[in-house]
Amino acid sequence: MPEKDILSPTAFWDEMAPYYDEYVASTRYKFFKPEDEAKFFNELFKGRRLILDLGCGTGRTIRLLGRCGYKFVGIDISKKMLQIAKGFKQGSYVLADIRHLPFLDSTFDAAFSLHGGVSHLKTFDEKLQVFKEISRALKPRGLLFIDVRNPYRRDTGETFVVEWPAGKKKIKTMGYALWPKDAREILRENQFKLKHLLGDYDLKEKYTKGSKRLIIIASKKP
Ligand SMILES: C[S@@+](CC[C@H](N)C(=O)[O-])C[C@H]1O[C@@H](n2cnc3c(N)ncnc32)[C@H](O)[C@@H]1O
Repeated sequence: MPEKDILSPTAFWDEMAPYYDEYVASTRYKFFKPEDEAKFFNELFKGRRLILDLGCGTGRTIRLLGRCGYKFVGIDISKKMLQIAKGFKQGSYVLADIRHLPFLDSTFDAAFSLHGGVSHLKTFDEKLQVFKEISRALKPRGLLFIDVRNPYRRDTGETFVVEWPAGKKKIKTMGYALWPKDAREILRENQFKLKHLLGDYDLKEKYTKGSKRLIIIASKKP
């Protein structure tokens, strides 16, 4: 594929922004309905108050849970995605890269990244850096939920092209694997205890190489 067709993640998500919610509704909602997503996270976040959405996009999940008593902060590298999120007047939003979280230590009760917000980190060291930052920004016993593609999927592997329809146009950016072995090591190095490794949005299926997703639920050690 010619280099020139590949957009940076920021350019890709800026261009995707006006189409994002509609496209996600036509794909993701077929297998993980918004009401099920809201119910699941409401259970998961029970007893937590201040929650960080890493790669929050248009604030989809924040909107789903906005009236459940949590206080959400969303962070994203795309100004255009955040402009849409801010329009709904729920949660607060920060334009920043998850590699450098602009928050004090031990700020959040929970952090989550859904639907590939951490999938543009190329090297092991970048992934390590992001999890180090998340660990720093979480309180002890803080909860972490990360959802990425399963790298063993035939269309994924070490690197994959993310191709989405932005209106009539197809746009592309690069995605990078998070291997379960690396994830375990990165969690260990950053004081996280892995609680569950799941394989699909029904959120009961244990992760295997054949799973659709790789879903991590961990907590920061006390
Ligand atoms: C597929 S969207 C997911 C949005 C939202 N989490 C959801 O579930 O609808 C991925 C988002 O991650 C953001 N993102 C990608 N890399 C990022 C980074 N390094 N720092 C902050 N945000 C990032 C993109 O701008 C995009 O809005």
